[in-house]
Amino acid sequence: DASTKVNLGKGNGVISPVRDPTSDLAQAAKKGSLVVRERRAVKERKDKDSDSLATQRTQSDTTENNHQDFEEEEVQDGTDEKKLTPQEQRLTLPAYQHRSSLLKIINENQVSIIIGQTGSGKTTQLPQIIYESLQESHSSNPTSIKMIGITQPRRVAATSIAKRVAEETSTTLGSLVGYAVRFEDETSKDTKIKYMTDGILLREMAQDPDLSKYSHIIMDEAHERSLNTDILLGLLRLLLSKGRPDLKLIITSATMDQGKFTRFFGDAPVYIIPGRTFPVTVKYADYCCDDYVESAVKEVMKVHLANDVEAGDILVFMTGQEDIETCCQLIQEKIDLLNRDVNDDEYRVKPLDILPIYSSLPPEQQALIFKPRRYGHRKCIIATNIAETSLTVDGITYVIDCGFAKLKVYNASIGLESLAITPISAANAKQRAGRAGRTAPGTCIKLYTESAEESEMYQATIPEIQRTNLSNTLLLLKSLGIDDILTFPFLDPPPRQSIITSLYELWSLGALDNFGGLTKLGRKMTSFPLTPPLSKLLLLSSQRGCSEEMVIIVSMLSLPSPYLRPTQRQKEADLAREKFQVPESDHLSLLNVYQTWLSKKRSVQWCRLNFLNHRTLIKAEEIKVQLEQIMNSARLSLNSIGSDWSVLRECIAASFYHQSATLSPSSRSTYLHNLTGLELKLHPTSSLYDMASMPKFIVYHELLLTTKQFVSGVTAVNGEWLVKYGQVYFDEKRKDTGVLNGNKERLEKEIERDSVLYEERKANEEIERKL
Ligand code: CDP
Ligand code: MG
Repeated sequence: DASTKVNLGKGNGVISPVRDPTSDLAQAAKKGSLVVRERRAVKERKDKDSDSLATQRTQSDTTENNHQDFEEEEVQDGTDEKKLTPQEQRLTLPAYQHRSSLLKIINENQVSIIIGQTGSGKTTQLPQIIYESLQESHSSNPTSIKMIGITQPRRVAATSIAKRVAEETSTTLGSLVGYAVRFEDETSKDTKIKYMTDGILLREMAQDPDLSKYSHIIMDEAHERSLNTDILLGLLRLLLSKGRPDLKLIITSATMDQGKFTRFFGDAPVYIIPGRTFPVTVKYADYCCDDYVESAVKEVMKVHLANDVEAGDILVFMTGQEDIETCCQLIQEKIDLLNRDVNDDEYRVKPLDILPIYSSLPPEQQALIFKPRRYGHRKCIIATNIAETSLTVDGITYVIDCGFAKLKVYNASIGLESLAITPISAANAKQRAGRAGRTAPGTCIKLYTESAEESEMYQATIPEIQRTNLSNTLLLLKSLGIDDILTFPFLDPPPRQSIITSLYELWSLGALDNFGGLTKLGRKMTSFPLTPPLSKLLLLSSQRGCSEEMVIIVSMLSLPSPYLRPTQRQKEADLAREKFQVPESDHLSLLNVYQTWLSKKRSVQWCRLNFLNHRTLIKAEEIKVQLEQIMNSARLSLNSIGSDWSVLRECIAASFYHQSATLSPSSRSTYLHNLTGLELKLHPTSSLYDMASMPKFIVYHELLLTTKQFVSGVTAVNGEWLVKYGQVYFDEKRKDTGVLNGNKERLEKEIERDSVLYEERKANEEIERKL
């Protein structure tokens, strides 16, 4: 079994997300993403740097402009079955048809595992079936019905499916059926069916460890093995046996490898929802492609030109927003080219509705993928792996699979977390192909070879818990009183090294004491739905009298970039952006954008003129209000520092010194990571990019790993701040020698030195005293 043949990296216990880093596929992942970036980079403004890459976090509105108006023209073509209302449609789903068997197994067992193909109605129907039976059994006292909670690993799935189920139950969203995702709560006291991300339920457990408001918890998409799902499974196992013997747990999965879940819950029964699928013809590539975006575009065109639109719609799997936008753009260009000078409709390319879907796409545009196909048109959905199992669109018969996905990777030995394009697993590949055969026989075109799938892919994706920074999770577990992490019931345990590195990070932030216990600071940190460093940033800013400004910065950091960069008007957009840039800090630039927007009375018109995403700013304000509420209830003061923004930079340095770097003595644009010595380049969108004289020390918010390491969300800081707050990492004597601290051995030596421990604690104790 290849999934157990884990690559152990350089003997440090870190699990590599790539089965074989030397394989063609792994190389293609790197190369492929590089090709895309380079092609995009030609259009980049500041690409004097030959390694320049496309704007990763810069949300452009190209897709908004690119795709045609999707008016309400919903004439169905003759081959489709007659249009059913959502209420009628649900009656045809396998999960609904097998409702009595499903109810039986749920009612008779505390834990049940339900397997069903994607689209069989697990997510939309199970909660409704349970609710309907509760209505019957509680008919004399309907108010005593508790909530049914359904967790999703993805935000988009939670929100869009809640909307769908509200439609199916003919209720308004937020009444009977609601959802909650981070910073967004669409529920009310009437809500009985609550969709939420797994992260939300985890935070609810911190408030109410018994989950007393719920009678049923459905852990949906358990096969995804997201970090939060894995942690919840452990916590729920503890809860079921102790506090809540009456709570029902239902685990659903789209794949058949339920053995692990069954064993974990002491031989829990499994029910497989019968369903039918159609055969899918798989076509492999003869050789590894050079640029998967180009290849995908070619295949889309081939399918579209060679087959009647009635033959079905196309679903393309890409890795992320950037690839998806490029793909949409290139397909549109190809069609426009073919149609140029062709006036006779008969000879024009048949209309293709190009529909992107990824998590940061605005909800109105996400909803378009579910609209029925327009007469004479074909839909071409270009998606991230969100379309693999979470969202099902009917009518797809062609799948084009690039073979890659963007995956979070964590190198625990140096404590670096990043997003990287990696080969998918054979299990993902199978799921993706299966999407072509839901409603009719289909075809899956794979942009990789058969031997790559057999020998270069893992059988199953490495669970997130084994490739992520755990500091957030460990802090939460500590706050739940789970002190000995090593005895926690993990479905798959995280590598020891990541536990140690994460505990160390928490300790150095002042969240844990020298004995691993939660400090007052640590406890306060858990009040925020933020990563520990961001929570600390808010706590500290409150003491330093700049929390009003910091709350804005943190809200803006929690969202995609507010700067728009439409393809046709990049120069103008860049000029507009420069107006807001505070030379020494991207954080402060964000603050500047927000404050200027407020002073312009939140004008939509002004946003348009300045290439700012109005929706993002509105959202930032909502998040700000929520964070302020949390600050208030935690009795943390809100105060404005006015124009002395250097205090803000000091607070940022104090919370992010573990992500700091020093200008390389031998280069005027390369930085060296202070803890690892890793070479870092500034992202071209940074305010600091290409400054006449580069600051010596920076801290960064995000690291993007391609062939080079790029940092974004950068702020210039003083070396003294890093030394003051990051004692344990940095040595006073070295503060002017360039790299503050070069390697891990050195770091370990530092940890052993008690005096340093003491100094480090002193800075954090000062913060604690004032809490
Ligand atoms: O969870 P599972 O994959 O088993 O299926 P589901 O998400 O409950 O979807 C059941 C059906 O509802 C599918 O045929 C979807 O296409 C349909 N659906 C829809 O038409 N619109 C939505 N927004 C969500 C689901
Ligand atoms: Mg589902």
